[in-house]
Amino acid sequence: MTVSDSVGSLASRPAGPTGSGPRVYPGPPLREVPGLLRKLWRDRLGLLSDAAGEYGDVVRFAMGPKTIYFFNHPDHAKHVLTDNPANYRKGMGLSEARRILGDGLLTSEGETWRRQRQIISPAFRRERVASFAGVVVGAGAALTRRLDAHVGAGTVDLAREMTALTMDVLGRMLLDADLSQLHMLGPAFDVAQDQAMFEMLTLGAVPLWLPLPRNFRFRAARRELEDAVRTLLAARPPAGDKQGTDLISLLSAALQDEPDARLRWRGLRDQLITMLLAGHETTASTLSWTWYLVSSQPAVAAAIRQEATEVLGDRMPAFEDVARLPYTTMVIQEAMRLYPPVWGLPRKAVSADEIDGYQIPAGADVMICPYTLHRHPGFWPDPDQFRPERFAPTAPPPAHRYAYIPFGAGPRVCVGSHLGMMEAVLVAAMVARGFRFELQGPAGRDPEPNLSLRMHGGLPVRVLRA
Ligand code: HEM
Repeated sequence: MTVSDSVGSLASRPAGPTGSGPRVYPGPPLREVPGLLRKLWRDRLGLLSDAAGEYGDVVRFAMGPKTIYFFNHPDHAKHVLTDNPANYRKGMGLSEARRILGDGLLTSEGETWRRQRQIISPAFRRERVASFAGVVVGAGAALTRRLDAHVGAGTVDLAREMTALTMDVLGRMLLDADLSQLHMLGPAFDVAQDQAMFEMLTLGAVPLWLPLPRNFRFRAARRELEDAVRTLLAARPPAGDKQGTDLISLLSAALQDEPDARLRWRGLRDQLITMLLAGHETTASTLSWTWYLVSSQPAVAAAIRQEATEVLGDRMPAFEDVARLPYTTMVIQEAMRLYPPVWGLPRKAVSADEIDGYQIPAGADVMICPYTLHRHPGFWPDPDQFRPERFAPTAPPPAHRYAYIPFGAGPRVCVGSHLGMMEAVLVAAMVARGFRFELQGPAGRDPEPNLSLRMHGGLPVRVLRA
């Protein structure tokens, strides 16, 4: 039975209350398919937000060969991510990204994933992350020197600066290496992501072997990333020479039992490319949206600067300062609510399931969307307003634990969440005490939902002294 067959038979059944038979999915009628496809291509967030507004917490998009089951209640997110995660593999976009990420932690499944997670998790525990504060502060200091040089000068793309910062942190942290030499990494990741989105949006109808310019570009990008990883690994001291404590040393040790050298190499390559991609875009996106929001609200800019000055004075921050910067933390949390770097959590159902009385066929594409959950009017008053006070330690917690999931949830929750938060908070404080930004170009920035939530056209600003 195909997905559309099963949906057809479901849709023709009468609606029944929960528990008394399968419910009929709300959703746009068939005649709207061309418009939906256009919107899927041009305005994915608008498509999902509008549908949630029009149809409610459950929407079925029947789009020709593809049907998407969109669930937008926190209880639904809990079911898919935490209560029954074994039934939901990584879905659209991520499954395509697998071509470049291979069997890295983000895209692997089943036993392979479980083994990797066991090996990798200890490297990201709170105590270990604390030991990386020096790396973050070093990269933050390099960033402030670059910003210093821009004060009073022309327009700077702050989003690009945030990406350079997060790459710097990862290079030092993962490999003890300076990634600033590897300028090609950024564009190669862009091409790879662009391809993953293209494959998702064309519903996989354009095979990679076709002699198209985009396919050539993708293959070249994949080669560049592989070459970069080879260069980085080759530059490391030989095993046994130095007992490294960076992540790749841990991974190499864990792969030592693998007798096949090709598999050992492939394992390392996949993890390294995965960590570079998963770790740099997300944190850069968090910081970019934070600066955008903060720079639009002078009172918030003044408050974050005041906290940074009072807590840090002139000294460099340390890990312990994260807990002493509650307002900065609130600002970051609220920025991630409005603009969650991972805006969608696509999944594919392994077997048939039921959520809230709605039948999900085996193989169905299910979408949980932090972007729409974080703006759900049933759980967030004035959901589109930027109000860091929502996250004040004295404020009531979010109305539902799963109404706020910037790091995902359940067994596949982000492994780098402590690192990402530490990095965002410490760097935001370091920058805020010295600088403020004047937004240039159009007043509002449009979110561009790639694998992570980018800013269309970057973030052009003028850098001013605080
Ligand atoms: C503010 C920054 C970050 C945000 C918002 C974020 C968000 C997320 C989310 C939502 C997921 C779950 C994806 C899913 O379930 O489909 C995830 C997974 C993951 N993240 Fe992060 N992330 C951040 C920083 C980082 C950093 C710094 C690293 C590593 C250096 C990292 C590495 C990973 C990995 C490897 C996974 C896959 C985990 C697994 O499936 O077991 N992330 N991230």
